[in-house]
Amino acid sequence: MVPENPDSRRTTVLFVCLGNICRSPLAEGVFTHLVREAGLADRFTVDSAGTGAWHVGEPPDARASMVASQHGVELLSRARQITGRDLERFDWVIAMDRENLRNIERMAETIDARARIHLLREFDRDRDSDEVPDPYYGDVRSFETVYGIVHRSCEALLERLLSTA
Ligand code: 4NP
Repeated sequence: MVPENPDSRRTTVLFVCLGNICRSPLAEGVFTHLVREAGLADRFTVDSAGTGAWHVGEPPDARASMVASQHGVELLSRARQITGRDLERFDWVIAMDRENLRNIERMAETIDARARIHLLREFDRDRDSDEVPDPYYGDVRSFETVYGIVHRSCEALLERLLSTA
């Protein structure tokens, strides 16, 4: 959670997917891991949310947690639904696919949003698509593929945020 009076030295990043149990928890976990590895944990606040409410309160999908843990990344999120307030207080809101992006942008039209809203794969230098595929109805290999996309994109996102901070 982001505190009500966020430390202005921190860059705040919210990753968003549909259910907040597969892709955005992976992105939150991977990005948090990368900033810790870089010794930059005190410079970032990282969170995730879903555009849908079906899984609110649930931990990440067991397949996402398993694949993450195989890469030394722990997923600690609990699913929540994105709110308009998120778009007022986060610096960066990073969507996993175009449908998420459309829903977030629609929400942003009605409020005083200050977040910069982007697709995660805008930062992926090896992209064959601008979307992170939804692995929910796939098998564990789909989660491994998504992990690779998310990791590559988060590394590039961190570089970009450090260059604009
Ligand atoms: P996520 O994956 O958006 O990456 O968390 C999904 C999780 C749940 C559902 C769809 C996608 N669902 O339909 O319940």
